[in-house]
Amino acid sequence: MSETLFTGISQLVSPAAGVRRGPAMGALTQIDDAALLVRGGLVAWAGPRTEAPEAAQTHDLGGVAVVPGLVDPHTHAVWAGDRLADFEARISGVPYEEILARGGGIRRTMRATASADVDTLVALARPRLAALRASGATTAEVKSGYGLDFDAEVRMLRAIQQLRAEFLLVPTLLIHVPPQDGRAAYVRAVCQELIPQVAREGLATAVDVFCEKEAFSVGETRQIFAAAQAHGLSVKLHADQFHAIGGTELACEIGALSVDHLEASGSAQIQALAISGTVATILPGVTLHLGLPAAPGRALIDAGAAVAVGTDLNPGSSPVFSTQLALALAVRLCGLTPAEALSAATVNAAHALGLSDCGALVPGQRADFLALHSADWRDLAYTLGASPVREVWQAGALAR
Ligand code: NIG
Ligand code: FE
Repeated sequence: MSETLFTGISQLVSPAAGVRRGPAMGALTQIDDAALLVRGGLVAWAGPRTEAPEAAQTHDLGGVAVVPGLVDPHTHAVWAGDRLADFEARISGVPYEEILARGGGIRRTMRATASADVDTLVALARPRLAALRASGATTAEVKSGYGLDFDAEVRMLRAIQQLRAEFLLVPTLLIHVPPQDGRAAYVRAVCQELIPQVAREGLATAVDVFCEKEAFSVGETRQIFAAAQAHGLSVKLHADQFHAIGGTELACEIGALSVDHLEASGSAQIQALAISGTVATILPGVTLHLGLPAAPGRALIDAGAAVAVGTDLNPGSSPVFSTQLALALAVRLCGLTPAEALSAATVNAAHALGLSDCGALVPGQRADFLALHSADWRDLAYTLGASPVREVWQAGALAR
């Protein structure tokens, strides 16, 4: 079994393994002048270099900080077409929801994506996923959700499945917006046809719903969640992006993995998340790009919730191709400390995907880690517009 001792680590900084809630998110372990032993792709040992065990090979990282590989728990990295005209309309004052209500926005991307075959979708998504990985994301979730019909939804999931040969991805079926006519029949068919097929073919591990005035109601979301859980799939939710209509409370009640967005959450939603096992995933790229209020990251942590952060990479609300930038924005826009943001982007993001084998540099976890350009790990949260990440290591191997 291959064995490498990594040295030349000015600081090895990591949260403990497992989800961190509330104030525990800010507690990191920092080992100065550290070494990291990787055996068979897993962390075998981490500690001060002077106490390091012998190893078959050594690799000197040159005196830089090392942190766990980031986990991006929320992306829509597969899409065709663009939203540049919507972008111009928005910056001249037309709201995102109005563009959607007029048949643009998400529906525009659905029309473009519906006419793309699997190979085209793979080719479009590959450089986006490569950008996320270069920014530090060793694992990323990818959603469907731009299928106008079920065949297009399944094509998106097959594209994600193909990309899993190149990237560590977690696939999610997203039920995004209802058709303009016949929404009750559509929800029934999602529950009776699409979800059973996706579960049978192993095309997704979770089902996500966009619960919003312009998308699905709480009642419709409840039906879709029941079908997902009956087929052994986890559930997660887009909720409280524009209006807090009750989706967060439903998701917490039924044990969803995560509720994502939360820009419009108030104290009732914060409280529901604080006392539940559901992760609160914040997406500060949306705040930046749409000029929305920021999700209450600080209040969520102070209330005791487990907060994760992701890019929400998508063409309409967050053209953010860097998971590190999402982490850095969570500090600026949502009031997280750098240490809390690192927990949010690693162990908590992993937990939001139902993963427990990555996110922390402790024995037994997959050896996914980042060698920064800097000797001080805080550059990860500080740097904007250039990458503080020099190298991305996945299961102990350099990703390229
Ligand atoms: O997470 N709000 C719903 N879904 C996506 C946006 C998708 C799009 O605009 O294409 C989101 O923000
Ligand atoms: Fe999203």
